[in-house]
Amino acid sequence: MNDSTDPRAARLDTIANYEGPPIGALFDAEPDRLDRLVIEDCGIRFDFSKTHLDADLVAMFGELAEASDLAGQRKALFSGAVVNPTEGRAATHVAERGEGGNDDNQFAAAMRRRMRQLVDAIEADAFGEIEAVLHIGIGGSVLGPALIVDALGREGQNVDLRFVANIDGEAMDEALIGLDPETTLVVAVSKSWSTMETLTNLDAAIDWLEGAGMEDPYGRVIAVTASPDKAIESGIDETRILPFAESVGGRYSLWSAVGVSIALALGYEKFEELLEGAAAMDRHFKLSPVEKNAPVLAAFSDLYYTQNRGAETRAVFAYDERLRLLAPYLQQLVMESNGKGVTADGTPLDRPTSAILWGGVGTDGQHAVFQLLHQGSHLVPVEFVAVIENEDSQDPRQHRQLLLNAFAQGAALMAGRANDEDAARAYPGDRPSATLLLDKLDAHTLGALIAFYEHRTFAEAVMLGINPFDQYGVELGKDMARAIDDPETREEFDPSTKALIGKAGL
Ligand code: F6P
Repeated sequence: MNDSTDPRAARLDTIANYEGPPIGALFDAEPDRLDRLVIEDCGIRFDFSKTHLDADLVAMFGELAEASDLAGQRKALFSGAVVNPTEGRAATHVAERGEGGNDDNQFAAAMRRRMRQLVDAIEADAFGEIEAVLHIGIGGSVLGPALIVDALGREGQNVDLRFVANIDGEAMDEALIGLDPETTLVVAVSKSWSTMETLTNLDAAIDWLEGAGMEDPYGRVIAVTASPDKAIESGIDETRILPFAESVGGRYSLWSAVGVSIALALGYEKFEELLEGAAAMDRHFKLSPVEKNAPVLAAFSDLYYTQNRGAETRAVFAYDERLRLLAPYLQQLVMESNGKGVTADGTPLDRPTSAILWGGVGTDGQHAVFQLLHQGSHLVPVEFVAVIENEDSQDPRQHRQLLLNAFAQGAALMAGRANDEDAARAYPGDRPSATLLLDKLDAHTLGALIAFYEHRTFAEAVMLGINPFDQYGVELGKDMARAIDDPETREEFDPSTKALIGKAGL
């Protein structure tokens, strides 16, 4: 950000220097705090009241949002205008939910009809009896479907769905355990159709099918990609290719044909419900005023802690086993989007961008890492995600305890506890948290929850002036991985790396 010309800079500086009261005092000073900082929509209660956001800060952030033209950028996102300037394209994931520009919506709907036809054909045994699906993909081409099916598929799935991402053969070995090649369909997902891990694992799956005597192994493969020509070149028939738009980013792609495995495992209707839930959140983000807009308030809070409090990380703990893959999913969404060091026009930034996101599930975390949250020297804003409706088959007291623990942790972080005799037993308190409380965990609510995180990431990027939709940071490592495998270019590597190659006998 060029501080002399960017209108955001002065606002960010003011926010960075703002000194407000502790959270506990804010509850006394602002009797309407719950009314202002709790938002209920899409079956989710978003409670930001245990953060340091006070009325003055929200007003300052409102000015930052204005100076950043958040409303204009949001309009650009939803209309299909270019919001990814470094790659010169739109970001049309909202069109996958029917909330984008007309042409994008129509294209997405046509691709969805194609996907539905294929799902119907598979269910009607066009490939013979299918008992299992091997989903091959990495990053955004696997994390979303894995999260959704793990969260919603616990009561039973239409197929035995396995995921394989890593180049490590151990991953494929594990994914194939117990699978019968005769009744397994391979779904290979790669937006670029050039990702080394995915193409290598696809080769391994083809070998596995061939090894089992399958006559037409490629005939057992469905390809999902934004580069259909490349998939055809690698031997997959056009009729089994599900394309999606180049303008749908990998980490924003579960709503597209990338979600075909969700539809196969949970049924097409569940997939549609997921899209409807995300669309409901799209409308919330599009239509709610800044101070009542859940993704925007969340972005205010994220920015406050990175810019003002020097928070380098933030943690998300799902107090629901079904959401155990939420944190890994969010790590890609947040860090690949906003882990940037320059603005959208290429100016180096002299202020922090995204916090490092980490997390896990409660109550497990309480007995492992929460020590640091309560007493460590780092300030870590924590997010608790919990679900009111209990669907497990155990004594309801367990779910009750699960929720009470989530709420107690937030209260303890904020209140702290003094101990004048023994500093080791003192809790400083004034540690922030947000609580996202879902009425129930169904496809609609989960769709809304994920779309909330997408828009929060976008809003934060806009207020920092960065482009959340490119990911050039991953390219150098890919280039070097190719160069290290070539005897000529390998010579140019540093002594440590060459010695490691020698020691490993490569
Ligand atoms: O290398 C990073 C990345 O490009 C992610 O952005 C993406 O989600 C993942 O790899 C997989 O890419 P693809 O879908 O093109 O195989």
